[in-house]
Amino acid sequence: MTRSAHVHPAAAGRVSPSDAEELSHGQTIQSVYVYEAPVRVWHWVNALAITVLALSGYFIGKPLPTMPGEASDHFVMGYIRFAHFAAGYVLAVGLLGRAYWALVGNHHARELFWVPVFSRTYWREVLTMLKWYLFLIPKPSQYVGHNPMARLAMFAGFMGISVFMVVTGFALYGEGAQMGSWQERLFGWVIPLMGQSQDVHTWHRMGMWAMLVFIILHIYAAIREDIMGRQSIVSTMISGHRTFKN
Ligand code: HEM
Ligand code: HEM
Repeated sequence: MTRSAHVHPAAAGRVSPSDAEELSHGQTIQSVYVYEAPVRVWHWVNALAITVLALSGYFIGKPLPTMPGEASDHFVMGYIRFAHFAAGYVLAVGLLGRAYWALVGNHHARELFWVPVFSRTYWREVLTMLKWYLFLIPKPSQYVGHNPMARLAMFAGFMGISVFMVVTGFALYGEGAQMGSWQERLFGWVIPLMGQSQDVHTWHRMGMWAMLVFIILHIYAAIREDIMGRQSIVSTMISGHRTFKN
C-alpha cells in the first residue's frame, strides 16, 4: 500500500525517530512520492545524452586510425561529431528544462541546484554519510530526498561540471558556426579567457574525465545504497516513490 499524496514532515528531509512516534497511531510511512515524472524522465534522457557525449567526445579528440580508400568515401568523423553535437543540444536544453522544473516542481526538485552551506547540521550529516560510505559506522540515517552527501556530489560533481561542459562546448561549437553565430556571440569570450582554442579543447576533455569520475561513484553509490542502505534508491528514480527499510 502506498500513501503517495501524504506530505509528512519527514518529506522535508531526514526521517527521524520522532517522526516514527508521531505516526504511531496505526500509521507508518509506506512510501513518499519524491521524484516527479519530469525529473525522472530528465534523469534517464540526460544519462543517455552524457553516454553518447563521452563516447563521441573521446573519439573527436583521439580519432580512429585513418580509413582505407578514398577519404571522400567515408564520413565517420562527420557522424561522430554529429552525434556529439546532437547529444550536446539534448544536454543543454535538458538542463534548461530541469532548471525550470526546479522552480515549479516539488522541493526535492530544487536539491540539485543548491546546498545549505551555512547549516552546521547539514555538514554533520554529510560527515555521517561519508563515514557510512567508508564502512566506519554500521548504520546510516534515512532520507526522503537525496542524502546530504549525494546532494553535495550532485551539485558540485554534476551540476558544476555540466554547466562547464555546456559553456566550453558551445564556445568550441561557435568556432565551427563562425563569427556572428549565436554560439560565438554568447560563448566566444571563453576562448581568449582560457588562452586559445586548443586550451578550451583540453579543458573540455578534462571536464569529461571529471564527469566520468562522478558517474562511476554515482552508480556505485546508487547500487550500494539500494542493497545496504535503509531506503529504496534505484526504483525511486524509476517510479518516483521512496520506500523504507528498518
Ligand atoms: C558531458 C558533456 C560533454 C562531454 C563529456 C564532452 C566531451 C568532449 C570531448 C572529450 C571532446 C574532445 C576534446 C578534444 O580532445 O579535443 C569534445 C569536443 C567537442 N565538444 Fe564536447 N562534450 C560535452 C558536451 C558538449 C556540449 C554541450 C557541446 C555543445 C554543443 C559540445 C561541443 C563540442 C565541440 C564543438 C567539440 C569540438 C569538436 C571538434 O573539434 O571537432 N560538447 N567534447
Ligand atoms: C551518465 C550517467 C548518469 C548521470 C550523469 C546521473 C546524474 C544524476 C543526477 C544529476 C541526479 C540527481 C537528480 C535530481 O535531483 O534531479 C541523479 C539521481 C539518481 N541517479 Fe543518476 N545519473 C546517471 C546514471 C545513473 C544510473 C545508471 C543509475 C542506476 C544505477 C542512476 C541512479 C540514480 C538514482 C537512484 C538517483 C536518485 C538518488 C537519490 O534518491 O538520492 N543514475 N543522477
